[in-house]
Amino acid sequence: METLEGMKRTHHCGELRESEVGKEVTVCGWVSRRRDHGGLIFVDLRDRSGYVQVVYDEAKMGEEPFHKAESLRSEFVIAVRGNVRARSEDTVNPKMETGTIEIVCSELRILNKAKTPPFYIQDDLDVDEMLRLKYRYLDLRRPEMQKNIMLRHRVAKIMRDYFDRLGFLEIETPMLCKSTPEGARDFLVPSRLNPGTFYALPQSPQIYKQILMVAGFEKYFQIVRCFRDEDLRADRQPEFTQLDIEMSFVDQDTILAMMEGLMAELFEKALGTKLETPFLRMTWDEAMERFGSDKPDMRFGMELLDISEEVKGSTFKVFSSVLESGGKVKAIKVDDYADIPRRELDGLVEYVQGYGAKGMAWIQYSTEGIKSPFKKFYSDEVFEKIKEKCGAKTGDLLLIVADKPLVLAQALGALRLEMGRRRNLIDPDKLCFLWVVDFPMFEYSDEEKRWKAMHHPFTAPRDEDVQYLISDPGRVKAIAYDMVLNGVEIGGGSLRIYNSELQERVFEAIGLTLEEARQKFGFMLDAFQYGTPPHGGLAFGLDRLVMLMAKRPSIRDVIPFPKTQSASDVMAQAPSEVEEKQLRELSIRTAVKKKAEKAETQKEQ
Ligand code: AMO
Ligand code: AMP
Repeated sequence: METLEGMKRTHHCGELRESEVGKEVTVCGWVSRRRDHGGLIFVDLRDRSGYVQVVYDEAKMGEEPFHKAESLRSEFVIAVRGNVRARSEDTVNPKMETGTIEIVCSELRILNKAKTPPFYIQDDLDVDEMLRLKYRYLDLRRPEMQKNIMLRHRVAKIMRDYFDRLGFLEIETPMLCKSTPEGARDFLVPSRLNPGTFYALPQSPQIYKQILMVAGFEKYFQIVRCFRDEDLRADRQPEFTQLDIEMSFVDQDTILAMMEGLMAELFEKALGTKLETPFLRMTWDEAMERFGSDKPDMRFGMELLDISEEVKGSTFKVFSSVLESGGKVKAIKVDDYADIPRRELDGLVEYVQGYGAKGMAWIQYSTEGIKSPFKKFYSDEVFEKIKEKCGAKTGDLLLIVADKPLVLAQALGALRLEMGRRRNLIDPDKLCFLWVVDFPMFEYSDEEKRWKAMHHPFTAPRDEDVQYLISDPGRVKAIAYDMVLNGVEIGGGSLRIYNSELQERVFEAIGLTLEEARQKFGFMLDAFQYGTPPHGGLAFGLDRLVMLMAKRPSIRDVIPFPKTQSASDVMAQAPSEVEEKQLRELSIRTAVKKKAEKAETQKEQ
């Protein structure tokens, strides 16, 4: 292999333009594509800035150096010295940013060879994601991935500048923390020095940032890794990054306005997109009522329409029994789709059942008349009334679910999104920001048979609802807010409780005795007795935000080394078994047999 000795890079490949024509340049990078025209070889050379075409001309270079060019293969690392020349009009490549010029090579150095990669290093790749993750270094070499990671850098930089300008301090908090209840499952780290005890990795810096307010820092932010051992989805990773923020002596409006300012600056500086502020605000109740979701995608309509009044008092048991037990009957209107195939309707029934609904009904206002599974239970007049209530016209389809409010919202909310996608109603270029405010303080866990904090137990209840904390937790609303972008929750936070007495009452409401609360959060309750300022804040999911800015379907596309659905790193092969000795040092024994032992027992059997 050759070295770079005497070959100092003068330009990046993607930066070369016609202004460089006639100059001698030196570029370095990876061989992307090589076309051999016999006596003439064209190579697209790639570095992180883009591509440039390099020409190897046997007549100009001489036979031996040309042979070297012939040996070039994909992903070889090379350095090229040569002259920039303008391409003739018929060879200009408008698809390349450097498509009007090329480098005529005078000296080629092969700095390294490469094995044939398992997939092409190019955009719009159609290969299994597992393969991409296994060879992540090759996947990351692809221009679109490079762009995503560069965007992520820009976003973090703009965030830091914004908060610095507003007088915030970036302060680090521990990664080895105390395991506290509430929230997701913790990742635990055994302590060698204190056998039998464990640290938890932080699910967020929540408690520390509040203690920083007690400590008088007033304005804190941090771009910080968080860890949650939960089931994974396209927008969830076991370790992810938050932009975490906390402030003292502020109200909700001040916080929301500051965050809108941040978004406006981010989109303007990173993408050149102007945002309109202030963002729309909607209460949680309204969001659930109208969209069946606490993170509604506002890029399209198709709102949930209540037809309980219209269908009540009939012999149709499905509706009447739901209405009698406090449920509702709601519909979504799908324009011009009365001729939906029966097969699709059956599929949709299964779809809503996946979200807990017992079933789904429909009305097809087709030109040949009305079709509906409950047609015989109602007069034509009722079908007209429903049509009017929903603003439907002949040719439209109503999809209807009857159930308890929460199940109904979940099922019809999901169906709304699905139909929006299927009917192509969602404009991918639209940006719809929304604040969802006034979240319920608690939600009831059927599994644990108790009330749990919906956000976290440090969230302040509205003053007027404090009286119901113990007697009627379900009606207490919190001073909590989420920022939603195109149906994705990109951030959330709240004003906090700063009075230890109120904090204790909230613990009581979620079934924590004073003793348990002291044991779990004692350090925080102690701190709060030494002069706590009113404070509040929020955290953004940086990965989700960058995913939306980069218009990618998964946060894995904006994280350099993400985990798979089963929380593993297929490149590094983590998690993995460890040495017996390591476990012994930690005073730990696993209940799971090692792979080798398993094979052994299988052989014996
Ligand atoms: P919360 O739990 O809502 O609030 O988290 C804040 C934001 O982090 C993102 N997020 C995730 N992103 C990727 N993978 C995950 N597993 C994941 N979980 C959450 C979301 C979410 O809106 N301490 C509070 C904030 C506060 O009250 O100040 C908190 O962590 O975009
Ligand atoms: P069933 O009596 O369960 O066969 O239901 C009769 C019809 O009522 C079905 O064909 C569905 O169209 C409709 N249906 C059943 N359950 C629901 C529900 N929870 N919401 C709306 N429609 C339903």
